[in-house]
Amino acid sequence: MQYTEQAFTLPELKGLSAKQIDVHLKLYAGYVKNVNAIMAKIEEYKADSEKNALALSELKRRFGFEFNGMRLHELYFEGLGGTGSLGDGELRKALEKQYGSFEKFIAEFRSVGMMRGIGWTLLTHDAKNNTFHTVWVSDHEVGHLVSLPVIIAMDMWEHAFMVDYIPAQKNEYVEAFLSNLNWETCEKRLRS
Ligand SMILES: [Fe+2]
Repeated sequence: MQYTEQAFTLPELKGLSAKQIDVHLKLYAGYVKNVNAIMAKIEEYKADSEKNALALSELKRRFGFEFNGMRLHELYFEGLGGTGSLGDGELRKALEKQYGSFEKFIAEFRSVGMMRGIGWTLLTHDAKNNTFHTVWVSDHEVGHLVSLPVIIAMDMWEHAFMVDYIPAQKNEYVEAFLSNLNWETCEKRLRS
């Protein structure tokens, strides 16, 4: 089954230009294309798996990069277009309980975002232990916590901000991301 590129209609964002979003959406489309291309190639190579063993194993390795790149971008764009403020619901209460205050959670999330390297800063939730984890994922696939749903996905690849900011302004990008975060979407993710 082939994957279809999701369409995102975003309002005007604070601190993230339409051009930045457009460039980024085109990159996202590339991940969807590559996921489909790798799946098709694997099927093709499986016909002679002995002869294609080397290529098959490289494609299998590559698949996690492309698939997670696709899915993380969907979580990212779905999470934008909000007001950046979190209401007084279940998510706020749970974050306050674990981190001491909402501001302390934001400070931790920001500091993970400011880590060196390219990748993603995630907020995940472990329902089994009722615990949040802020996570750094290198590239798209290294460092995920198995089975934990992603509540917030913040893209920390330079392509996510280079149209609008230079690398030394990474903190301003983090600020812009948070000010456009759709907390209602995050709240739904916690409940699902
Ligand atoms: Fe990205």
